[in-house]
Amino acid sequence: MSNNNRHEIFEKSVPMLALGIVFAISLGGLVEITPLFFQKQTTEPVEGLKPYTALQMEGRDIYIREGCSVCHSQMIRPFRAETERYGHYSVAGESVWEHPFLWGSKRTGPDLARVGGRYSDDWHRAHLRDPRSVVPESNMPAFPWLEQNMLDGKLTGKKLALFRDHFGVPYSDEQIQGAGEAVKGKSEMDALIAYLQSIGTALK
Ligand code: HEC
Repeated sequence: MSNNNRHEIFEKSVPMLALGIVFAISLGGLVEITPLFFQKQTTEPVEGLKPYTALQMEGRDIYIREGCSVCHSQMIRPFRAETERYGHYSVAGESVWEHPFLWGSKRTGPDLARVGGRYSDDWHRAHLRDPRSVVPESNMPAFPWLEQNMLDGKLTGKKLALFRDHFGVPYSDEQIQGAGEAVKGKSEMDALIAYLQSIGTALK
């Protein structure tokens, strides 16, 4: 081999090879990721997207607390097998106000990105109380306590204010002030169902 084979530096030295790999992957990553911060398509809400109401916001927190995302993703990939089963694939503009987003990838149960409006409130109530009562072969756990737990609304206004002030979600002062009243006396089950019925409805 001649002396001007400069590639030998990488071929004969493990540290240099590792360094070279890290450099190449970092560059590739930056090229893919950086434009996403500046594209409107990924930073602006889709038309018709509405911020969660006070009740839906509480429902989303219960969804997180109960670990629903351990078994359910909220991300429909742009493949035919997915769109025929679940509906329109998920787009970034639907998630701009999601903090944290709940896309996930674990699907013990079906994807829920377009579950809003698919079933009635009563169906969800029966299903959450006892999944086997409506889907006999289901292995989803029951969540009967959600009906007993009542919301007091003490922190609801603060939650909405935080989403407005830190994440730029367009809540009005009236919505924030009325948030506590809006959820008071409702059960956690009511809140969770309100949230479920809102998921993915902006793009239907
Ligand atoms: C251990 C895994 C597991 C957990 C945790 C879980 N689920 Fe499920 N879920 C499933 C399975 C499996 C199904 C499919 C069978 C059925 O419909 O019950 C399902 C179905 C559903 C459906 C019907 C979806 C459709 O399109 O038919 C909804 C809605 C749902 N789950 C909501 C929830 C919510 C809300 C929570 C949290 C309170 C939750 N799940 C927690 C496993 C789970």
